[in-house]
Amino acid sequence: MPKVTFLPDGNSIDVPAGTSLLHAAQKGHAQVGFACGGNCACSTCHVYVRKGYDSLTDVAENEDDILDRAFDVQPVSRLACQAKLGDEDVECEITRESRQAWFDEHPDERARQKNG
Ligand code: FES
Repeated sequence: MPKVTFLPDGNSIDVPAGTSLLHAAQKGHAQVGFACGGNCACSTCHVYVRKGYDSLTDVAENEDDILDRAFDVQPVSRLACQAKLGDEDVECEITRESRQAWFDEHPDERARQKNG
């Protein structure tokens, strides 16, 4: 089972091959946004894959189109809802845009982090 590590916090989780990075993030309580519910329509799940990029499923045309609308796109950018795991471990960095979206979707967590 591949391990997915989410940076910068370092949360990691083992999930079966074929799991999307977004589902891994949700299982591992990582702060990856998902404003469109994982339907490849918003770019709030944008991550940088720092390790294991080539082991993920290929980028489809619709993912490429949505990534064009994301901020600070890099050659290792993926939409977490579209990228599915192969057999290798993966490390991905949650973009600022994605973390912002996650906190917008979880206002209680934002308040807890400010106070904690
Ligand atoms: S959650 Fe909207 S594009 Fe991935």
